[in-house]
Amino acid sequence: MCGIVGYVGRQTAAPILLEGLRRLEYRGYDSAGVAVLSGSEMQLRKKKGKIDEGLAKSLQAQPLAGQLGIGHTRWATHGPPSDENSHPHLDQSGRMAVVHNGVIENFDRIKERLMEAGHTFRSATDTEVLAHLIGDHYEKLKGDQSEASVRLTQAVLSALREVIGTYGIAVVCTDAPGIIVGARRGSPLIVGLGQNENFLASDVNAVVAHTQQVVYLNDYDVVTMTADRFDVASLGADTAKVQISQVEFSPEAAERGKFPHFMLKEIFEQPATVRNALRGRIDSDEATAKFGGLNMSMAELREVDQIVLTACGTSWHAALVGEYLLEDFAHIPVEVEYASEFRYRHAPLEKHTLVVAITQSGETADTLAGLREAKRRGHKALAICNVVGSTIAREADGGIYLHAGPEIGVASTKAFTSQVTVLTLFALLMGRLRMLPVRRGMEIIRALEAGPGQLESILQQNERIKRIAQKYARAQNFFFLGRQHGFPVALEGALKLKEISYIHAEGYPAAEMKHGPIALIDPNTPSVVLIPSDSMYEKTLSNLEVVRARNGPVIAIATEGNATIAKQADDVIYVPPTLEPIFPLLAVVPLQLLAYHVAIERGCDVDKPRNLAKSVTVE
Ligand code: AGP
Repeated sequence: MCGIVGYVGRQTAAPILLEGLRRLEYRGYDSAGVAVLSGSEMQLRKKKGKIDEGLAKSLQAQPLAGQLGIGHTRWATHGPPSDENSHPHLDQSGRMAVVHNGVIENFDRIKERLMEAGHTFRSATDTEVLAHLIGDHYEKLKGDQSEASVRLTQAVLSALREVIGTYGIAVVCTDAPGIIVGARRGSPLIVGLGQNENFLASDVNAVVAHTQQVVYLNDYDVVTMTADRFDVASLGADTAKVQISQVEFSPEAAERGKFPHFMLKEIFEQPATVRNALRGRIDSDEATAKFGGLNMSMAELREVDQIVLTACGTSWHAALVGEYLLEDFAHIPVEVEYASEFRYRHAPLEKHTLVVAITQSGETADTLAGLREAKRRGHKALAICNVVGSTIAREADGGIYLHAGPEIGVASTKAFTSQVTVLTLFALLMGRLRMLPVRRGMEIIRALEAGPGQLESILQQNERIKRIAQKYARAQNFFFLGRQHGFPVALEGALKLKEISYIHAEGYPAAEMKHGPIALIDPNTPSVVLIPSDSMYEKTLSNLEVVRARNGPVIAIATEGNATIAKQADDVIYVPPTLEPIFPLLAVVPLQLLAYHVAIERGCDVDKPRNLAKSVTVE
């Protein structure tokens, strides 16, 4: 997902833009660039490749003067990664520069019209067309006597009225050297408020080192920003609603600290982040859970007769954990839907169906579309989300924040355990509003409260898990097997390994192996088997033995105290005993560490895996 940074103030802009772009690297990108105004001069630098390999070296060799500029990290959608296709893009006059996150769907028709009017293009991107379109509208406004800054904002507004698609943009023009114009529809954009300086960015990570006062722009907002003020107009029917928010985490939270990778840091943060997810949400007197932001009465929650959990990727795996929990605790029918499918299916929903969007970033385009589809059909829509002020968090009718702090590693880890924690609490609440007895409620609460300490003990096995990972790091295929509450964890373990080590891995219900996949088992195909000492133990063990009988290596994730499993598996990683429904919270951590160490052993870029973006805001 592309990243945008803008700065206007008293400091030299280029170093601030570069630092902001570095803080957005986790979003995934293949090129980067800046445009800095120095007086009436447009200074453009843009390079394919990582920031440190291209853009940073260029700026170091020839620094740019100027106190206003915009920057961009590009995740290619239209046109391959190249210097020419990198942003910023200039308009026909060369006096205007634009950076963009999103997809302009009607760019080809606009390009055709502009070419007929004599425009020439250097790149294959939709963004360059947008730059020329804004420039074209700006030229047509030259006749009136208004200030260049007013004309620039007007040109952006009128150009965007022609655009179909999604955008988060920043625009600068040498005729108006003191302002930056920003706009958003479908891609996030925030204003960071400083002292005699202001910032524009795709997310707060890019500005949190300078300010914790931000304005989350809404779709159709167009902001005109100078060093001393900002004004927001709206392309939509409503007038712009401006609300200044306080960023809830410190700049250090977005730093790697003593860890070699953000992913490892975030794995080790999980005892603390699970505590954050639990904090203030346990009602021991009533053996239930409580939330401040559901915006639903207990009566409305009791009326819910079906729940749809919609999400993507790791969040979809958390949703699957939620399905088992809600059915177990509350006996509510649950559908777990890939958001990209849910938005187009005509799934029959009940009158009181509650739709819950689960998302770390709050910006995933498919999940946002799923939420909007649910609301369009008149259903209550909640969001379980990590990023305060994100689009999905703001468009939902209510929701639950994870309070996990920024998750920078592309592979989601602490967000998953926080989502599972929140879903366990939500299932407890829904269960206690129905038939779940006090005693069971207290058992669940005690198991949750023991979770962070148990995670600490699992993390102490890091070095041992590293050795196991090194033993299997050359495999080309992996299976992850689990039953019941362990099945979604098997899927999550497979995704973690796939996305950071590039090894092909599949998760399956353990019993499903005998219906075909077992044909793939051989001595070079390890299977990770989630086999807690629970009600399914004997059946899972027989599935494990079927794999071993075909010389398939087995790594067992088992419950502490089970000595016999060591004779039935090649390697064992133990987790502390807990209630069956709480097992996912613990069992996922060994799989996160396994994936991390396998990827390191294979020399992969753990925090920025190839082809991936942290949050996918395109469909
Ligand atoms: C998980 O490790 C991946 N980074 C990806 O599957 C991610 O979970 C998915 O894109 C959903 O993102 P979200 O939670 O921000 O909506």
